[in-house]
Amino acid sequence: MNTNKRQLDLKQKVSRAAIDFIKPYILDNNFFIGIGTGSTVDLFIDELAVFRSNIGGAVASSERTRLKLLSCGIRVLDLNDVSSLPFYIDGADEIDRSLCMIKGGGGALTREKIISSVSDKFICIADESKLVEHLGSFPLPIEVIPMAINSVSRRIASLGGKSILRDGFITDNGNSIIDVYNLRIQNQLNLEKEINNFPGVVTNGLFAINRADVLILATEMGIQLIRRS
Ligand code: A5P
Repeated sequence: MNTNKRQLDLKQKVSRAAIDFIKPYILDNNFFIGIGTGSTVDLFIDELAVFRSNIGGAVASSERTRLKLLSCGIRVLDLNDVSSLPFYIDGADEIDRSLCMIKGGGGALTREKIISSVSDKFICIADESKLVEHLGSFPLPIEVIPMAINSVSRRIASLGGKSILRDGFITDNGNSIIDVYNLRIQNQLNLEKEINNFPGVVTNGLFAINRADVLILATEMGIQLIRRS
């Protein structure tokens, strides 16, 4: 199997494993769930669709996910109309063993962070290529108000990072994304807060404050479950 096919196969396996994980809750009627964005999540939604009649509604972290859910016959709810979400399911671009993540490769980081922050349990679903010893090989996405692209990039440079504007990309919130290379991420929590404090930053793709509670990881050896300690 070539690398792409192998990765797709692992993504499919982790999606099924995530369904097994939450199935007891889905089978209680009127199940609500928050859903992230990305190719792994798209596969998860396909699996979730089998249970559509048990699902009271899903809150989508992006337009892409909203359309995918609707095409699978799953009701989509506005976060403002939901009082609680037992689960938030999403992928990651990188995740370490403390379950801190870099997210936002798909540009949906802000809505992902909002929904995960109000969910009881964040379940990250990923293939083994996403598990890293240290976060930072994947460029850190930052959503910025367009007028602050240069001022935020200068502040990022003072931290040692190189900002590249994601050309022609506009987020679902109407903002820009800069991808930051060469950032040394030593204290994920402090760095997440520090960057979020730069004027013009909407949010950055470090998920340390709202790290995952559970990682379901698909590996060549099988499915692994890593829980937040
Ligand atoms: C979307 O903005 C990201 O946070 C995704 O969760 C991440 O890019 C994972 O995507 P894949 O499942 O496509 O790898």
